[in-house]
Amino acid sequence: MVDQRVKVDYEQFIPRETGFIFKFIKKDNRFIHTFIEGKLIEKVGLCPEYIIGKSLFEFLPADQAMRKESFYEKAWNGEHVNYEGSFAEIQYLAILSPIRLNGETVEVIGTTIDITKEKTREKQVQQMEKLSVVGELAAGIAHEIRNPLTSLKGFAKIVKESVTEPALVPYLDIMLDEMDRINEIVNEFMFIAKPNENVNFQYTNYTKLLRDCIHFMEPQALLKGIEIQFSSDAEIILNCDRNQMKQVLINLLQNAIEATEYRGHCIGVRLDEVSNETVMVTIADKGCGISEARFERLFEPFYSTKEKGTGLGLITCKRIIDLHQGHIDVKSKLGEGTTIRILLPRYYPVETLLAAE
Ligand SMILES: Nc1ncnc2c1ncn2[C@@H]1O[C@H](COP(=O)(O)OP(=O)(O)O)[C@@H](O)[C@H]1O
Ligand SMILES: [Mg+2]
Repeated sequence: MVDQRVKVDYEQFIPRETGFIFKFIKKDNRFIHTFIEGKLIEKVGLCPEYIIGKSLFEFLPADQAMRKESFYEKAWNGEHVNYEGSFAEIQYLAILSPIRLNGETVEVIGTTIDITKEKTREKQVQQMEKLSVVGELAAGIAHEIRNPLTSLKGFAKIVKESVTEPALVPYLDIMLDEMDRINEIVNEFMFIAKPNENVNFQYTNYTKLLRDCIHFMEPQALLKGIEIQFSSDAEIILNCDRNQMKQVLINLLQNAIEATEYRGHCIGVRLDEVSNETVMVTIADKGCGISEARFERLFEPFYSTKEKGTGLGLITCKRIIDLHQGHIDVKSKLGEGTTIRILLPRYYPVETLLAAE
């Protein structure tokens, strides 16, 4: 039972109404919780009855309980201890304050606040910093790489055409392929550095554009025995940058093809008018899917699980969609497949149109 008088007192301390407060004592060499109160408890899926009178090991997995026990031990020895922890999706900061009487700890009070939002923001800032470093690097070196690469490629082609020793041809093919790859990375790099440069918004038959991209990718899909099925309710005209949109659709189709492991599996592409203001592109594959751990890192630059991947495809797509004031989301289940949805506005605010001129 929770003493009502004590409850009222402690509620005043509950930080920001979003945390919880708890107390524990040490009894028979075990830390036993004697009190817990606050809104965050329910949010993390716990309840006081589950915790009061129990030790950490009775309601937490052993590894978590052990980690927390070491903090509890420090607090019991008289130190003020701060630590960060997480329950399900919620991240929190806990502060343990020992209550001492005649040099002996009689109980420890813990306060916990929800720092999930702060942590998410911190991660976003880190991501942006990473991108801006990438951007500076890209701007600095991309041109320097491109020029010599153009002459290398030109000469490699000439050599390939005039070579008399047939055994050398495959080597030259590999050289040319690898140069294409360098070119691709450099171009993606440059786009990430300056996505707003050279945008060219034009009224575009989006249905046709999407169909063209599918035709372009079809040979690659057919090689793996995969069919791309396209359906659309209407001819949709959108104001967009055609080249950038092509890049988005080709990147996503490429990922879907690469993820599909079995012949005969289809990739479904749909274009829908969600409302007068919004259209939606859906690309669904029945491929390998994405595990939870990988999911979090999807839009990180250079994150790739492929041997020859650049890890720049999805981040480039996101940048382009952001530039079109749209939204991209990913749903995926490991082993079952992935669905990517892009929402795009049909009408753009005046500023966007001006910026595009
Ligand atoms: N349709 C998909 N199915 C499964 N995994 C995907 C899919 N799309 C993207 N991924 C995962 O996201 C990672 C990053 O994708 P991307 O940015 O396009 O880089 P890359 O394709 O060069 O690896 C991929 O390496 C892959 O692990
Ligand atoms: Mg890709």
